[in-house]
Amino acid sequence: MATRNTLSVTDNRTGQTYEIPIEDGAVRATELRQIRTDEEDFGLKSYDPGLLNTAPCSSKITFIDGDRGILEHRGYPIDQLAEHCSFLEVAHLLIRGELPDRAELDEWVHQIKVHTLIHENIKKLIDAFRYDAHPMGMLTSTVAALSTFYPDAKNIHAAQVRELQIYRLLGKMPTLAAFAYRHALGFPYIYPDNELGYTGNLLAMIFRMTEKKWKPVPALEQALDKIFILHADHEQNCSANAMRCVGSSHVDPFSATAAACAALYGPLHGGANEAALQMLREIGSKAGIPQFIKRVQAGESRLMGFGHRVYKSYDPRVKIIKGLADTVFEVTGRNELIDIALELERIALDDDYFISRRLYPNIDFYSGLIYQSMGFPVSMFPVLFAIPRTAGWLAQWQEGLLDPEQKIARPRQIYRGKRARDVTPIDKRQAPSSG
Ligand code: CMC
Repeated sequence: MATRNTLSVTDNRTGQTYEIPIEDGAVRATELRQIRTDEEDFGLKSYDPGLLNTAPCSSKITFIDGDRGILEHRGYPIDQLAEHCSFLEVAHLLIRGELPDRAELDEWVHQIKVHTLIHENIKKLIDAFRYDAHPMGMLTSTVAALSTFYPDAKNIHAAQVRELQIYRLLGKMPTLAAFAYRHALGFPYIYPDNELGYTGNLLAMIFRMTEKKWKPVPALEQALDKIFILHADHEQNCSANAMRCVGSSHVDPFSATAAACAALYGPLHGGANEAALQMLREIGSKAGIPQFIKRVQAGESRLMGFGHRVYKSYDPRVKIIKGLADTVFEVTGRNELIDIALELERIALDDDYFISRRLYPNIDFYSGLIYQSMGFPVSMFPVLFAIPRTAGWLAQWQEGLLDPEQKIARPRQIYRGKRARDVTPIDKRQAPSSG
């Protein structure tokens, strides 16, 4: 029998049959509009809270196969990128589509480095925050404020203008992050040192005290650089979706990045590493694990850092980050919580509750332990996620802008509220009964 790439649908309300094209394993939601009961009918919509089965875009940036545990950027597997590349090479790959050659990389790195400084007024803005302001709140606000310093960024249709904002954002995110951290501690701000690499400079801006010249421990700098690669992009997650959605209004990229930062801030997204660390602290010792597992099985708690909406066999980033944890602990000393984490993972992977639900450790199960060992406070964890993810956000933003099929994001709703009521003047209104 000849096969056709179509879907035949019969509307049992009318008895009509429709043939809808299937392309790339998807049907266009707008094709459903032709399915109507009569002339007055708006047409069928698809209802998808949480966008569980909706592709709002096509993309050439990141490929994930959650069942097989595959993550590729522009076709390159994540383990090869982590082994052979620097974070800025991967940022180039995500944004420009190809890995740079030596000359391209030098130019790329140079352009990012000459944009690491921030306007002095941004410092005043940071100063205005309370001493205990969360660094992620400060980062989100200051990224948004950058749009007021660079009004030229509004011209998003000019390729050169977009490129300049990309350099600015990649260059300034570490500086904003470090200044937010220093503000919380009341330490003087440390200006960027462009002789250092991308992650080395971030570490210096965070940890340098009175030293004239501060050099990062190479193993830690490298480990952070690799962790940044692991966090650089993850296709259509909540913050990438926010970046594309806000960007689709043609606002400048600083404002769109602020929206993405806000999305990442939430505990269901970028905040999970913080929660995983807190959980390990609460468990306290290996002896506390069986009791904790019982609570999870009883639905009283979640095993934070486990489970993923997309990965249902394993998260390919976990093997890499576990190796990085060993490297970091050789320098910093073993994080006492790692033994609890390893034992928890061993027990969970052998337990029916987790096996039957296909729950495996995700990257957040380990990243917090590494950050803590490196000396970062827990509140900086989502900030350390936001810096490298900016590369992914910018790639997603630009791809969306250049896609002729994209329009301003404006979904539909299923209205379930009241209709066509007459307004009663205030003196005649009665409060609705509470019963
Ligand atoms: N611990 C215990 N049970 C879990 C967990 C967990 N971590 N995750 C899912 N389950 C159970 C859940 O209770 C449900 O069981 P049942 O079928 O009996 O009701 C089943 O597994 C399916 O869970 P779900 O909530 O429908 O799955 P989801 O795909 O909507 O959620 C998730 C994905 C990542 C939000 C969830 O696994 C979770 O809350 N994990 C812990 C938080 C975490 O580590 N988040 C980081 C995600 S990776 C970073 C990122 O992408 O931002």
